[in-house]
Formats: sequence, C-alpha cells, structure tokens
Amino acid sequence: MSEKIIIFDTTLRDGEQSPGASLNVYEKLEIARQLAKLRVDVIEAGFPISSPAQFEAVRKIADESEVIITALARAKEIDIKTAFDALRNAKHPRIHTFSSTSDYHILGKFSDSKYGVTLNEKRNTVLQMSYDAVAYAKTFCDDVEFSAEDAGRTDINYLAEIIETAIEAGATTVNIPDTTGYNFPSEFGWKIAELKRKVKNIDKAIISVHCHNDLGLAVANSISAIQNGARQVETTINGIGERAGNASMEEIVMALKVRKDILDFYTDINHSEIYNTSKMVSGFTGIIVQPNKAIVGENAFAHESGIHQDGMLKNRETYEIMNPETVGVHKTKIVLGRHSGRHGLKSRLAELGYNPDEEELQKAYDAFLLIADKKKEVYDDDLRVLMGDEIYKEDELYMLKYMHVNTGTGTVPTATVQFLFDEKLIQESSTGDGPVDAVFNAIERALGIKPVIESYNVRSVTSGRQALGEATVRIREGEHSYTGRGTSTDIIEASAKAYLTAVNHYLINNNIKLKVFETEKSV
Ligand code: KIV
Ligand code: ZN
Repeated sequence: MSEKIIIFDTTLRDGEQSPGASLNVYEKLEIARQLAKLRVDVIEAGFPISSPAQFEAVRKIADESEVIITALARAKEIDIKTAFDALRNAKHPRIHTFSSTSDYHILGKFSDSKYGVTLNEKRNTVLQMSYDAVAYAKTFCDDVEFSAEDAGRTDINYLAEIIETAIEAGATTVNIPDTTGYNFPSEFGWKIAELKRKVKNIDKAIISVHCHNDLGLAVANSISAIQNGARQVETTINGIGERAGNASMEEIVMALKVRKDILDFYTDINHSEIYNTSKMVSGFTGIIVQPNKAIVGENAFAHESGIHQDGMLKNRETYEIMNPETVGVHKTKIVLGRHSGRHGLKSRLAELGYNPDEEELQKAYDAFLLIADKKKEVYDDDLRVLMGDEIYKEDELYMLKYMHVNTGTGTVPTATVQFLFDEKLIQESSTGDGPVDAVFNAIERALGIKPVIESYNVRSVTSGRQALGEATVRIREGEHSYTGRGTSTDIIEASAKAYLTAVNHYLINNNIKLKVFETEKSV
C-alpha cells in the first residue's frame, strides 16, 4: 500500500540562511500562508533564539497557522524555552532540537576540556546533552524532533546510539541530516537502512532526512533515504539554503508523483501551487531561479529545437514527462492594465498567492497604476516583483525621494539624490565611473558609510523595451550580508532603491545610528 511522505518545509529557516536572503516578518507570514496552501505538513518557521526578529516571525506564524509549526533550538535549555515561547499559541507546535554528532563537529565545537578530554568522553557528553534536550523539550510539548547534525559524516554506531537515546527521551521524529552534502545516494540509503536495523526503538519515531546539496545530490540522497525507510523529508522551495542549498521540495515531490511506478509513496502537496510558491519565494528572497532548474525554471517546459517542437506538436509526451499545468505553469498569460481596477488586482493577486490587507492593497494598487501608466500591460511577473519589492517592505529609515542623473558619452556622470529621514530631507551629489556608481557614491556620501558591495544585478522582469527592471544589491558588513531590491522602468532608479534598501536592512538590523542622525544633516 502506498505510504505517505511527510513534507517538512524549512524555507523560512534553512532557506533563509542562504547568503543575503533575509526576509522580513510580513514576507515570512505571506510565505507561510502560501506553504499552507501548498499543503506542506510541517513549516519550520525559524530559529527564535537567534534574534528578536526571528522570534517575532515564528510567533506570528504560530499564532495564525493550522499547520504543524516548528522552531529550531540548540540542545540548550534557553534555546528550547525560547523556541516554545515563540510557539506557545501554535495549534500544533513542534520543538526541533539538535546536537552535533560527527567527530569533526564534536572536536571542533566541544574542544573545551569541560566536555571531556578524550573523543569518547566528549561523545558521551553529547549523548547526555541530547537526552536532556529532548527530555526538556518534552516538558513543553509532545511533538519533539531531534536532529543529529552532520549525521552524514557521523560514525554509524555512535549515530545509532544517539538516535536510540533521543527516542528514549521522547523524540517523535529523528532527523538524519547530511549537513555538508557529502554522501552518495547508495551510501546515504545504506545509513538509513542500518539505523532501522541497529536502533532498537526506531519504530517509535519517524525517520526524517535533511540533505544539503554541496555535490548536487540532495534530492537523490533524499529519495534514496525514502527507499530505505525515511518517511519525512526536509526540503526548501527552489532548493535554497546554506551554501549550495537544501533538497528542493518541488523536485522530490514531482519525482515521487512522476515515478510512482517505482516509488509507491505519496505526499499531500497541492501540486498546482508549486509554481506560485516558487515565484513568491524567489520574489521575496531575491534569489533568482536558474532558467534550467527542474520543475520551476523558466526553461523547464520550453522546447527550443525544431525536432523537439515538431515532436511536441504531434504528441506532448514525446519530450515531456509531466504536464506544466500540473505544477501551476499556465500557457495563457493574464494581462492587467490601467483599467483593471482595485478588485481585478486583488483577485489576480489572490490567484498568485498574495493576500494583502486593505492598506497593503492600496499601496499595491498605487504602485500598479504607476507601472500600468508606464508600460500599459502588466504581467503576473510584474505583480510578483511589485509585491516582493514594494508592498511588504518594513519601515525604512531612509526613503528615496528624488534622484537626478546626468550622463552621456564624453561627460562625467553626476548624480544628486534626496531622501527622507524622519521627515527631514537629506541631499547629496557625487560623480562616478558611470551613472549607477555616481548614485551609489552620492548615497554613501550622504550617509557617511561605504559598505562592501558583494553583488549587484539588474534583470528585466518581463520582456519588451518597457519591461520593469529589477535591481538587486547585496552589501557586506563584517560577518553578515544584506540584500536590497528595487524596481522601476528606469534601471538607475531601481538600482538606487535597491542600494538604499540594503543599507536600510543593515542599519535596522544592527540598530545603528549614523552621524547624520545626530547632526541632522539636512537641507
Ligand atoms: O543541516 C543541518 O544539519 C541542519 C540541522 C540544524 C537540521 O540544518
Ligand atoms: Zn541544514
């Protein structure tokens, strides 16, 4: 009989750990609602101890969601208690606690002799910490997941011992992460089978896997684990996550659906929401989906060569193993225009998965009219970008008010920017190597900071010369990077907005007061 695979989505936790992918509370809430529509079984909403913003996002999602909501916690009482505080109002809370189990991690993280002198002593300490963490989590809720971090490189006998201990302490799900994406499918599948064989109480818990994609094998490893006894997979939308990312949800789910002939499993996923979810996550995180990405890439269902097109016209199955409509990719494009009205916009947004409140809808409608004025036809992708870049923005310290750029062949590009801070107008001008450089220099001059620009990209959202341009800027300050996005039919303006947003993220996240705050450098 076909068995269910539990889909645990960690887009909002591991996915958000992708470099520069920070999401604000409103964006996380909107993604959580879309994940519920997609019918994932578990949403990992964040890591509450790591920051007040993380705590708040988990709390807000837990407060309203009907899905199982989980929060991550190290094997420490303060982490576990904070995680549960954030989950307190969840209808179905789950605490997810973890310990490091590989020798690499144990020797690296527990080098202090208070954890033991020999490797064996340190391993015993971790064993006890894991037991205590699960037992403590159980005092808050029944549903407790334990992860053995870097299980993929952990000695199998020790891994079996630690999993047995976690189950003994009350873990209802035991997760086997391939944290570094090191395993091969046959090897990883064997490890799951070995755990089933060696762990005496394994029947008392669900086996979960959490695969990273450093060798491009995260999906293959997850599927191999399913074939060997795992019944929960931890995944992210578009495969985003730490470094090379996590196993992609859409790929695993569609592999199970398309190859049901050899994998007799099912998920509860509402396949037709896959594409909308992918677009929303890409829009909010600013992480663009590669065109050739399986299932959700722009080219996933495109047929370029004449032979392929001919074959497709005769019979779609010649070159397609799944129907694009199944994952929510529709051929006919719905176009809105200036006369579409607020109601038309609202219902199209709802179809794309966005549920703005009245104030957000008004903001969206105003922005929509500006776009419709400039480019007449507004496509779904324009709306998605508009929602991603403009509507759920948190209050910004600095708002771009005015920008003037002078450029041309044989002239030195100059830019003047004005922005509002606390109702004061700040103005500065500068030259640069090009118009974008001049604008960035003017912004830096006004604020008196010069962050490292880690990446700067401009892309056109839809096709045609009137297409909306989206700029993404990632800046780095110390250990952290911050992303900003901006859209406009003018790419210089989009770039200025993106840069200012990234700077705003940096300042707000670090509670930094620039000199300009104190000296009220205004004009
Ligand atoms: O990759 C990993 O090991 C993790 C755990 C915390 C589950 O993300
Ligand atoms: Zn991970």
